[in-house]
Amino acid sequence: MLDVTLVRCLQLCVSVTLVSRLEGRVSAPARVEAVVGKPFTLSCTLVKKGTGDSVTQVRWLDPKNQTLIAYQPGRKDTVSGQQHVELVSSPGDSSQISIKRVSYRDEGCYTCTFDVYPSGAREGTTCLTVTGVVTHGGNKTAVSGKMATLNCHFGLPEKVQQVLWRRRLAGPPVEWQDVVSFVPEGEPETKEEYQDRATVSSSLADSELSLRPVRVEDEGCYSCEFHTYPDGTKSSTVCLTIYVLPKPQVSYKTTSPGVIEANCTAISRPASEIVWNVEGNNRTMGAPVNSVQPLDDGTTQVISTLVVQSGLLKDVSVKCLVHHKGLESAIAVSMNTKIGTALTILISVTTVAFLLVLSLCFCLWKCFLRKEVD
Ligand SMILES: *[C@@H]1O[C@H](CO)[C@@H](O)[C@H](O)[C@H]1NC(C)=O
Ligand SMILES: *[C@@H]1O[C@H](CO)[C@@H](O)[C@H](O)[C@H]1NC(C)=O
Ligand SMILES: *[C@@H]1O[C@H](CO)[C@@H](O)[C@H](O)[C@H]1NC(C)=O
Ligand SMILES: *[C@@H]1O[C@H](CO)[C@@H](O)[C@H](O)[C@H]1NC(C)=O
Repeated sequence: MLDVTLVRCLQLCVSVTLVSRLEGRVSAPARVEAVVGKPFTLSCTLVKKGTGDSVTQVRWLDPKNQTLIAYQPGRKDTVSGQQHVELVSSPGDSSQISIKRVSYRDEGCYTCTFDVYPSGAREGTTCLTVTGVVTHGGNKTAVSGKMATLNCHFGLPEKVQQVLWRRRLAGPPVEWQDVVSFVPEGEPETKEEYQDRATVSSSLADSELSLRPVRVEDEGCYSCEFHTYPDGTKSSTVCLTIYVLPKPQVSYKTTSPGVIEANCTAISRPASEIVWNVEGNNRTMGAPVNSVQPLDDGTTQVISTLVVQSGLLKDVSVKCLVHHKGLESAIAVSMNTKIGTALTILISVTTVAFLLVLSLCFCLWKCFLRKEVD
């Protein structure tokens, strides 16, 4: 009988000690990650406050043990603290503060302290790691022979040890080829294949890869990698498209009396679109016929063949219009008929003038000769 009571008593004692151990503990996540430039909320909670205990003050210390914010629960007028943080209203015995814009300097361990009356202060610690994400300036297009630039941004340059640009080679399997790299306080290093053509900006936050002159073979996707310590590699992929602009030409020949066959030829990348403009006239003989042929250098040749009555060319201008994605407006090539007329007039005028000068000379010569003879 006595034994049973003793056992009961012991059990009770043990559970009471357990409860009192749990009492007044502060629960806070040990590790959290915040993205640089974004707001972030830190929180901790006082669990199992003892009966009769009351929280008189809550304090947050930053990684340098300086007061970040301090307040008496439920009394807004008592909040004091640093500019870059604010108190977030939170229920009961929990506390939340928000860092308005996380920066590299915010990394470290934060302590939240609940001053509890009468049992004393309780504290919890949360360690914050600041991470960054890579953003890029979007896919780009460039004209062959000109300059192409691709750019990436990483918000946490303090942690970057190397920036590396790599090119994705056509798979499978997908492989990456180094193009150019940059390390702080070092010279950018360009791989042999890109020597004299690839350059990288000397920045650990904003990295810009430039290729000049850019070639059709450079088309593809590139990754910008920011090698950080201790968070590892952060990267993003951006793609480059290369255009070759058309330089259209028109040629024509007479296939049968009164019928002319005209060709408008455009070599470009990607393929051009060719249309004919016959000054609103309906005297073409049938629709133009287009032939499309891919060439070895990555360009495409488009020939548009139009058959017209030669009579038409005397009074209207026939133009070939070449449209290409890389051009702001279409290139127009005239079939030279009107210019041809102008040329004829020019030649005639020149000839007449020449003859006039010649006869004048002849006259003068005759006059002089006569005088001399006299
Ligand atoms: C902050 O205080 C804690 C003890 O409260 C101590 O362990 C830590 O080293 C201190 N940190 C700095 C940066 O002073
Ligand atoms: C960039 O181009 C690649 C391949 O052409 C495509 O998969 C990707 O969605 C493009 N990205 C953007 C942001 O347009
Ligand atoms: C036009 O192009 C075709 C091939 O598409 C060719 O057979 C023809 O001889 C060309 N005509 C002229 C006038 O250049
Ligand atoms: C163009 O000519 C065709 C016949 O050659 C005729 O059917 C069509 O109506 C004409 N269109 C116009 C706009 O004159």
